[in-house]
Amino acid sequence: MAAVGIDAMEIWTGKLVLDLPNTFAPVKDEAPAKYTKGLGLTGSSLPDVYEDIVTMGANACKRLMERKGLTPNDIGRIDVATESSFDRSKPASTYIAGCLEQVFDGDFSHTNKGERKFACLSGTQAIDDACNWIRAGRHRGRGALVVVTDTALYERDDPGEATQGAGAVAIYITETPSVVALSREQGIGSKDETDFLKPNQQFPSVDGKRSIGVYLDRVREALHDYESVAGRIHKADVAFLPFHTPFPGMVRKAALMTYRHLIDGTDEANALRELVGEAPDADAFDDAEAYKKARYDHQKAIRKTPLYREWYEATVQPTLSLSRRTGNWYTGSVHIARASALLEAAQHDVDIAGQRMLVGSYGSGAQAEMHTETVCPGWHAEIDALTIVEQLDARYDLSFDEYERVHQAHTYDVEVAVEPFTTPNNEFVFSGYGAMGERQ
Ligand code: HMG
Repeated sequence: MAAVGIDAMEIWTGKLVLDLPNTFAPVKDEAPAKYTKGLGLTGSSLPDVYEDIVTMGANACKRLMERKGLTPNDIGRIDVATESSFDRSKPASTYIAGCLEQVFDGDFSHTNKGERKFACLSGTQAIDDACNWIRAGRHRGRGALVVVTDTALYERDDPGEATQGAGAVAIYITETPSVVALSREQGIGSKDETDFLKPNQQFPSVDGKRSIGVYLDRVREALHDYESVAGRIHKADVAFLPFHTPFPGMVRKAALMTYRHLIDGTDEANALRELVGEAPDADAFDDAEAYKKARYDHQKAIRKTPLYREWYEATVQPTLSLSRRTGNWYTGSVHIARASALLEAAQHDVDIAGQRMLVGSYGSGAQAEMHTETVCPGWHAEIDALTIVEQLDARYDLSFDEYERVHQAHTYDVEVAVEPFTTPNNEFVFSGYGAMGERQ
């Protein structure tokens, strides 16, 4: 078997947007630049009152199936990855299959369905399972649907509130991929952590500052683990670096660490050292704060060098163009980073077939995964078919008062009737709970 990977994808954004610099920042009495430059975000996608993880996921799948001419008989697995699940028994994939059966001929009675959680890592794990299912020859000629879908909301006034988002990505995996083929090798960095959790609660308890360090530690470990099996990877091997993007500022930190690793031992590392000196040595400092400051200044100096800036603009910046406008989609996050990179390449009419991406997935709790993906010859046509930029442009721009009401409408233990802000158009909508309490 030559390659297994992503044959097609569709992205569905929540239909509302909270403008962070212009609507959120003034109410929080913060400088708009904290959001646009510090976190790297301009807006948060939020779901309208008739949208949730099932409608967004089912709408992404419907569009994908219509565009690819697929019927239920073409699909042997549906796996949903979500951190916003509302049913502790039935997987969300059963609800999504139920929606799709209303509009497509045939049914999904032969289809294996499941649900996973662990942020975007869980979507990557589901893709990995699907690839292995195909490689094992158990797919009977069928493809697999992986649906990553979340309403990533934080409690009001939590620092994480600025990084919220909502949307879904439907990803179709086959043995004849048009978009990217996945490497068999993968690296893992994993440790039981308690910086971000939601046991029996809708909104996460987060130690935000610590979560940044935990993310970097796991990503570093996953990169080393990947190289232990796939061999050393160099800067020239990597065209794009799509990483889990809770907010672009997080990826900015992870990218700097990755760049230094990719150039380690090369002439470029020597050239960089001549420009910015050696990295400060922790042992040379008695005071932890002084060391932190010296390290921060050294990193800032690297960021300013033309060497780093050129690499960052080409390899990292293109992966952030969607998430900058959407916020964190938890499970969808790395999958829109991949799509961003491909969209940017398509917009600039660059043929990247055959080039490799180093893909970094992450889930709090905590685990990172690294693998590489090779862009397939059919990537351009698939990416041209995406409508995500038009969807983002068409979102309803909420006032702060409207945002407060929408947030309440999506809070599980608050009952509040809020009129929709947008009009559904030939799509699945949430219409309430049935007699047994299940969603319809
Ligand atoms: P905060 O305390 O509100 O923000 O929370 P801050 O004061 O740290 O400022 C943020 C950045 O803006 C900083 O940049 C500031 O310097 C800068 P940095 O120094 O770190 O590079 N800044 C400014 N820049 C320009 N002009 C200004 C200005 N003011 C400040 N005027 C925090 C930030 C990330 C902690 C918060 O948003 C949070 O708690 N977020 C949620 C947790 C999170 O996203 N963690 C990321 C890693 S964990 C992860 O990715 C997993 C996750 O997706 C969950 C899952 O598994 O699904 C979250």
